[in-house]
Amino acid sequence: MIIIRPTCSRSPLQRLPGARFVGSASDINLFISLSTYHEIRSLLCIASLSALGAAAALPADSLLTGHPYLQNPAPDAITVMFYLSEGHQITSLVEWTADTVTGPVMSARQLYAGQEVVHSPIHKVRLTGLTPGATYFYRVRAREITVNQAYHKEFGADELVTPYRSFTLPSPSATDFTAVIVNDTHSYQPTVDAMARLTDSIAPDFVIFNGDCQPEPPTLGAAIKALHATATPFGLSSTPAIFIRGNHEIRNSYSSGMPELFDNPGGLTYGAFNWGDTRFVTLDCGEDKPDSTWVYYGLNDFDALRRDQADFLRAEIAGEPFRNAARRVLVHHIPIWGNTDKYRPCTPLWSPILSDAGIDLDLAAHTHEYKFHPAGTIDGNPAPVMVGGGYKPASATLAILRKRGPSMTLEVIDINGQRKDLINL
Ligand SMILES: [Fe+2]
Repeated sequence: MIIIRPTCSRSPLQRLPGARFVGSASDINLFISLSTYHEIRSLLCIASLSALGAAAALPADSLLTGHPYLQNPAPDAITVMFYLSEGHQITSLVEWTADTVTGPVMSARQLYAGQEVVHSPIHKVRLTGLTPGATYFYRVRAREITVNQAYHKEFGADELVTPYRSFTLPSPSATDFTAVIVNDTHSYQPTVDAMARLTDSIAPDFVIFNGDCQPEPPTLGAAIKALHATATPFGLSSTPAIFIRGNHEIRNSYSSGMPELFDNPGGLTYGAFNWGDTRFVTLDCGEDKPDSTWVYYGLNDFDALRRDQADFLRAEIAGEPFRNAARRVLVHHIPIWGNTDKYRPCTPLWSPILSDAGIDLDLAAHTHEYKFHPAGTIDGNPAPVMVGGGYKPASATLAILRKRGPSMTLEVIDINGQRKDLINL
């Protein structure tokens, strides 16, 4: 005996001999034999298409929104993120290979509890088992599911297959890297595009966006559009990026959804990772006003998040990856040292933990005014502090962190590529 759900009590299935309906007019089950089921399968499809409101399949080039982008690089893994058309059910996977001619080609999908995720437009696929330091090529494949029933599915005729893009993983033994640090672009496209052109000429191993680069997201669609407006010019399909949350990412209707758009070590908005022999520790400073401020309507608890990070910092500093690193870089949006805000909760909470940690460089943002503070010159800073500029072209800065063997330098340039500072660390 088979139970099916026709679209309504007036379905043509009602005319089947021996069919037995159970339920109300709006919620009805139909009991039929298995042989009858096979006979009426095509009829069932027609009825169900009507129930789902299914339309013609999307053209393949409409399945993907923007380009894929790379997150959470590790020596043996990386995450490919991409967005599929909202409101459609789409099956997708990422293929990767070290050689597009001779292969082999591996693949991975976004699974949750054993099932492929086909409803969500947000896709986060982790490629694992990779060789440290190696270069790989990857592409996304996607096909719409036009009918998705328990025992019957249909797929669009057109499959999306993106061009191959490449990435190179960090090697644990690497002593050299180049990183670019951008901050506070506030989605101001002239500054984003100018900084992206500078970044393209530098060809870094990875890019850090140190907060307030994806501000005040109103909806998922708007957040995705804004993210692509940064990710595409910066070439994040081939260069992995670390997005630090600033206080402006925490505001507006979709702000609590923003962490879904990124992938970080540990799955949190703070964490730590290695690029070669250098350890990067990233922190989330939260909002720039107390949680009790009326504009938050009681929805925030960044006091607790900062306390969690105090515990995280103690554990991180005591851990082998941090202690064994050749260099240690701290990255966060609101300055711990050199903050110009009246409200400064991070300083008394985190500064004592970090004072003897052996930090080589502290990278901050938020004030929209470029500053460099040598160690011991502002609020008891234990390490050199670079505070990046703002979104206006006259104040915008781009920092280039270069490590070559044991030496590390930080070069800061303006929007025209003119050097503002060169610091030996
Ligand atoms: Fe900020």
